[in-house]
Amino acid sequence: MPARGVFVTGTDTGVGKSVVAAVIAAEAAAAGLDVAVFKPAVSGLEQEGEPDHELLARASGTSQSADEIAPYRYGPPLSPHLAAAISGEAIDPGLLAAAAADAADAADAIVCEGVGGLMVPLTPDYLVRNLATELGHPLVVAARPGLGTINHTLLTIEAAWAAELEVAAVVLTPWPPEPGALERSNRETIAALAGIEVRTLPKLDLAAPDTWPALDLL
Ligand SMILES: Nc1ncnc2c1ncn2[C@@H]1O[C@H](COP(=O)(O)OP(=O)(O)O)[C@@H](O)[C@H]1O
Ligand SMILES: [Mg+2]
Repeated sequence: MPARGVFVTGTDTGVGKSVVAAVIAAEAAAAGLDVAVFKPAVSGLEQEGEPDHELLARASGTSQSADEIAPYRYGPPLSPHLAAAISGEAIDPGLLAAAAADAADAADAIVCEGVGGLMVPLTPDYLVRNLATELGHPLVVAARPGLGTINHTLLTIEAAWAAELEVAAVVLTPWPPEPGALERSNRETIAALAGIEVRTLPKLDLAAPDTWPALDLL
């Protein structure tokens, strides 16, 4: 495994994990690193929009294939364990850990994106948190800036700590151009209660990686 890696998780699905992972990957690639990306399972391919593995590939400039980036890919927008059950092919945790290790070995650094949150099952008895533990990279937690995020973010951090995972930072995204008292208080409260750095990411033009800011989290 390379010395450098990060595992981007989130408080929920649709909270900005892919955006945060893409920003970290693009930044490392712009710094001259050969960056691998990894996403254990992608679901919802039948929905509109750029699939996660394609955004990660575009951001990192990796030459990995879709199978190398995301070994399991499903059409319906479902939890991976259910999408796998419906597809008739079970997810193999050993294959995931090996695929991520192979991708990391072939690169200078790796940016992994989880699926949903830490407690999402990849199989009936293997959670995203189990994979994060096997990979051993520090976590970055993507979270919403608004009402409800203190609870969701602290629950995620507690779940990480319960498995002795390191949480490097929280990223609140998309951070409003003029944050109000709520957003500013959320940021300060999470930082104070968790003792973890809380970053912010403004709304980005996802088509223009050249304009993305640096997060310095890899
Ligand atoms: N900083 C941001 N700039 C632009 N769009 C964002 C930002 N943060 C989140 N989004 C949008 O929010 C939605 C969910 O983000 P995504 O990264 O796909 O979430 P997740 O990977 O957690 O499911 C997407 O439409 C994404 O474009
Ligand atoms: Mg995603």
